[in-house]
Amino acid sequence: MADSEMIAGLDIGATRIGCAIGKIDERKRISVVGIGCSPALGMENGIVADLPLLTGSVENAIVEAQDVAGVEIEELFIGMGQTNFRGVNSRGVVSIPGSGREINKRDVGRVIEVARVVAKRSNIEPIETIVQEFIVDGEGGIKNPVGMYGFKLEAEVYIVTGNLSSFSRTVIECVKNAGFDVEGLILKPVAAGEAVLTASEKKIGALLIDLGGESTSVGVFANGRVAGAKILAVGANQITTDIASKFHIPIHAAERIKRDHGYAMASLAEGKKRIDIPSNETNVRNQIPCQSVAEVIQSRLETIFNLVRKEIEGTRFPRGMGESVVLTGGGALLEGIGELAHQKFGLPVRTGKPVGTIEGWGKVVNSPAYSTLFGLLHSGLTRRQLAQVKDSGWQNPLPKIARWLREFF
Ligand SMILES: Nc1ncnc2c1ncn2[C@@H]1O[C@H](COP(=O)(O)OP(=O)(O)OP(=O)(O)O)[C@@H](O)[C@H]1O
Ligand SMILES: [Mg+2]
Repeated sequence: MADSEMIAGLDIGATRIGCAIGKIDERKRISVVGIGCSPALGMENGIVADLPLLTGSVENAIVEAQDVAGVEIEELFIGMGQTNFRGVNSRGVVSIPGSGREINKRDVGRVIEVARVVAKRSNIEPIETIVQEFIVDGEGGIKNPVGMYGFKLEAEVYIVTGNLSSFSRTVIECVKNAGFDVEGLILKPVAAGEAVLTASEKKIGALLIDLGGESTSVGVFANGRVAGAKILAVGANQITTDIASKFHIPIHAAERIKRDHGYAMASLAEGKKRIDIPSNETNVRNQIPCQSVAEVIQSRLETIFNLVRKEIEGTRFPRGMGESVVLTGGGALLEGIGELAHQKFGLPVRTGKPVGTIEGWGKVVNSPAYSTLFGLLHSGLTRRQLAQVKDSGWQNPLPKIARWLREFF
């Protein structure tokens, strides 16, 4: 298989590193052909604690995905999970010279550049530019306007600004140390939304919550676009720590209890039998009530959902239409989390699972923990197609990132 037909994504999570390789067909559809996962060794509490160890984990995940796919890759799109960024929506407008002529790649580059001026004006380097849609003579929803006829071309973009965090820089360095190149950085909530939201959810309004280990990624989608995004530095591992400290048990025991006996709401655990703790894991008690565990889980989840609510206040969320909440990430596997989210947000809630059938393997991968990873392939493809606008004057920000990296290290 030629390299140009392939696309790869790498999600460096707090608990798990995932690599996915996709094959792109002539109709620009992606099928996952390889997946590799390794525990996030070298990461502690969501930060890089040991770079060589993390590099080894990254390499293992990529090599496993390559082995499954039977191809070698050179570059990957990486999920960007830093918390300190600001996202702004911006619109660029340019006229097409002549009396209604064919739009070319140069015009596309010009209009994106005009939209990006907003961020540049405030002297902050855009670290990601997501083109939401092109509008030709008032007609929106266009993905690629090249070859169309018109007088006026507009681009609706979502610009992620801020300084690339030392975490993001370290992650890039790590991928390079493992012998691979970075094709682009993609904001994690955007990637996750791409993997699990339907076109109609994005259109009528959806709140995406990716509950990971050490972070909660939030994406608000409306009118078919990203309306806002935020990454909070708290995740489902906090629930495990809460259980461990409340019942004086080791972290691994608390994690097992959370997964096997945990309920997101105390009322759901009513009447359930007590949970046995092996005597080597506790010197305080050997049975704990299921409902007490659920109380701890509910309390932490409510805190997280309250933070999410605070973040989305003020974001445009079209009222009176079919808005919904989509939960994803490993934390979405908690029993009853949908009911709690429904209570908190007062909206219909569902669990978002990406579907990836690994070709030739006959294996379906559809865990919510893979949303960001699979979404990186889809967002990456859109990004790659835009980056192919070579003669446009618009450049992908990556060459600059590479320069910052040289200065930084
Ligand atoms: N079956 C399950 N039931 C309950 N919780 C689960 C289950 N499986 C995984 N989790 C929890 O999901 C969290 C990990 O989710 P995920 O794999 O999405 O995180 P990550 O991507 O590694 O982290 P982050 O996104 O914060 O970098 C952990 O807290 C884990 O305990
Ligand atoms: Mg994650």
